[in-house]
Amino acid sequence: MRALVVGSAGQLGRELVSGLAGELAWAGDLDQVDVTDRAAVATLVERVSPDVVFNATAYNKVDQAETEPDRALAVNALGPRWLATAAREAGALLVHFSTDYVFDGVADRPYREDDPPRPLGAYGVSKLSGEQLVAESGAEHLVIRTSGLLGRGGSEQKGGSFADRILARARGGQPLRVVADQTFAPTCAPDLAAASVALVRAGGRGIFHVANAGSCSWHGLAEAALALAGIDARVEAIASAELALAARRPAYSVLDTARYHALGLPPLRPWREALADCLGSPGRD
Ligand SMILES: NC(=O)c1ccc[n+]([C@@H]2O[C@H](COP(=O)([O-])OP(=O)(O)OC[C@H]3O[C@@H](n4cnc5c(N)ncnc54)[C@H](OP(=O)(O)O)[C@@H]3O)[C@@H](O)[C@H]2O)c1
Repeated sequence: MRALVVGSAGQLGRELVSGLAGELAWAGDLDQVDVTDRAAVATLVERVSPDVVFNATAYNKVDQAETEPDRALAVNALGPRWLATAAREAGALLVHFSTDYVFDGVADRPYREDDPPRPLGAYGVSKLSGEQLVAESGAEHLVIRTSGLLGRGGSEQKGGSFADRILARARGGQPLRVVADQTFAPTCAPDLAAASVALVRAGGRGIFHVANAGSCSWHGLAEAALALAGIDARVEAIASAELALAARRPAYSVLDTARYHALGLPPLRPWREALADCLGSPGRD
């Protein structure tokens, strides 16, 4: 594979870069190419001439997206559109990433790829638009939806991963109040990166759900992170409504990964096991 990775400084991008190693033809982040710039994207992809373009860029500030939906749409929908157009011209496969937040969370079983999406907020709307524009582009594509991404070193936009932020607060003696009414599968970025490369090699096309095995709430995740770090701190379980955040989140967004396994790919390890690898390790140079 001759791979190009955009968004290489993000949680997922960093892991794709290290996982692809010798197969990496080019990797860069916003300071090298802005994916909302159609001409810049076209020039880059034409020059590098990859077989596979991995789009690990994102605008993922879920609450802020409510007040700047145009910016969310630019990065999460137009960016993928320009990447897909450029990939099509180059005869390359576009691997794009999406989210469990395309669903409304009313299901009582894990969401399948063909369940009707109905995002609750501007972030989910922008990600769903990205999926649709990629599908309509005529490019060969693979769209991988995941949930609760935890990276080694976390997301710059969010001030570190959720787990690292919880540990920092606990170490600082700050009270911990965490929502217990949203259920999803936490997913570690190194596992997602490896699964994405495996999906490409297995010939996966269209939409796939990929997440670590099992599920929990943010409260459960916080307690697990503290236990793994050996920190004895109480986490108060609260309802989402108590935080009065700008964006609504799905109450239940566990993703059914059967389509991924049907390609003969093994299950990702349980989230708790994966979490241990993602805690407190820097993950960036
Ligand atoms: N984080 C989650 O909980 C979560 C959950 C489900 C799905 N996902 C999806 O998983 C994928 C990876 O997310 P992540 O958590 O790894 O994201 P991340 O850590 O925030 O990284 C995104 C990267 O994209 C860069 N970027 C932003 N705008 C750009 C632009 N216009 N042009 C080029 N680069 C740009 C960012 O740079 P700056 O930092 O300088 O802005 C950052 O380095 C995304 O598709 C996301 O929607 C994430």
